[in-house]
Amino acid sequence: MGEKVAQLKAHLAQPIDLQHAAGLLSWDQEVNMPEKGVNARAEQLSTLSSLAHKMIISDETARLLEAAEEEVADLDYDNDDASLVRVTRREFDKYAKIPNALVIREARARSKSLMTWRKARENDDFESFKPHLAEIVDIAREKAEHLGYEDHPYDPLLQSYEPGMTTAQVAALFKDLKEGLLPIVQKIAEQPEVDDGLFSEQVYPKERQWEFTMLLLRDIGYDFDRGRQDKATHPFTIHFSPTDVRVTTRLLENRPQSSIFSSVHEGGHALYEQGIPLKFMRTTLAGGATLALHESQSRLWENQVGRGLPFWTHYYPILRAFFPEQLGNVGFEEVYRAINKVEPSFIRVEADEVTYNFHIFIRFELEKMLVTGDLAIEDVPDAWNARYEEYLGITPPNDALGCMQDIHWAQSMIGYFPTYALGNLISAQLYDKVQEDIPDIEEGFVRGEFAPLLNWLRDKVHKHGSKFTAPELLQRELDQEISADALLAYMQEKYTKIYDL
Ligand code: CO
Repeated sequence: MGEKVAQLKAHLAQPIDLQHAAGLLSWDQEVNMPEKGVNARAEQLSTLSSLAHKMIISDETARLLEAAEEEVADLDYDNDDASLVRVTRREFDKYAKIPNALVIREARARSKSLMTWRKARENDDFESFKPHLAEIVDIAREKAEHLGYEDHPYDPLLQSYEPGMTTAQVAALFKDLKEGLLPIVQKIAEQPEVDDGLFSEQVYPKERQWEFTMLLLRDIGYDFDRGRQDKATHPFTIHFSPTDVRVTTRLLENRPQSSIFSSVHEGGHALYEQGIPLKFMRTTLAGGATLALHESQSRLWENQVGRGLPFWTHYYPILRAFFPEQLGNVGFEEVYRAINKVEPSFIRVEADEVTYNFHIFIRFELEKMLVTGDLAIEDVPDAWNARYEEYLGITPPNDALGCMQDIHWAQSMIGYFPTYALGNLISAQLYDKVQEDIPDIEEGFVRGEFAPLLNWLRDKVHKHGSKFTAPELLQRELDQEISADALLAYMQEKYTKIYDL
């Protein structure tokens, strides 16, 4: 490694440590913290984040970064040092272009709007959330102006979560996906409803669910010497280094699918982080590359693997042994169909894999219009409901189940939602490719063997850390562009069989 790159790395290691320390405080807040710790914790978090932010955007960073850029100018694009400098430049510019006053304004707006949103959602009171949403949208528009764009003000907002993708590209992909999914959803709607009372009408003790999810995590290759699972209301994964990656799950007595698929989903995120090479530790290359790539990992394990026939051929007898009273008389076919029940619903996070993407299309369309000013804040509930009616044939009975259900807008995260659906697309492209490379991979799942898949993902995705954007990684490893074809083919094949379409 060159001297200048080494200096840049040493300089950035400290703010990166601070960010991970702040992450640990956030983890503790979600998992352990007593309720009354919330105000003090908010101060502690804001102190650590602002220290890290100051160190990252300092003149010292600018100077070291420029020197390092000169040093790596002749290195190949995929060289570790060249990538480190390139990614650091991208992140540095993102931070440095936003004036400090706007950072402070956003932090204030976020904490106030979060507080109001929680209450507003509880009381189904969009009126009280409205001024906060207006402020968040205003901040997003201002951020877009500072970050700069050529085509669409949504571009820089999207790119702060998904570098390398444009609004126009996402819109084209979503159009393909929507046109392909609509006939599948319509045909399923004509079929008799699947009965999933075997889950919802029985009690599945939480301790047994917990044990089952621990078994699943161990089986798919999650390393408990470098992580742990805890309980949380909204499951998430967090990492402090590749050697400490933690997951959470949610236990509901009459919804064992929730803990099972939360654990497998978060396990997929965690396998990615545990697979980041140790040589990237304490640098900007440590950690998964982009949100779409991250979600491609979690969704691949959750859906293509975890909701698949081979997986349940192996796990159904085990699940039944965990819950002999509940499942003793239930056949495999019935459980498999209940797990894959497709039904338009109001809540994104509970949606099946077929209708899930419609929730994302709706948010993407509305966010774009909010940012351009083509949608007034007061018209959001009607615009939201009209789209649910149009795409899914259902109208939310209130705003709590409608436009106020997600935390993202209250958290000032406009531009984030598309990454979920992009992750779904990429998961299908990766899954096609691994089946091509290892044709008998699903036969392994039937025996509970997942190491070949994990090793393949390590080699194609994890080993690169944050070096590449999603389009770059797909080009390099799959020789493909991001496309809706693989996901549509997968949906078509799977649900034609399940629903006899
Ligand atoms: Co996820």
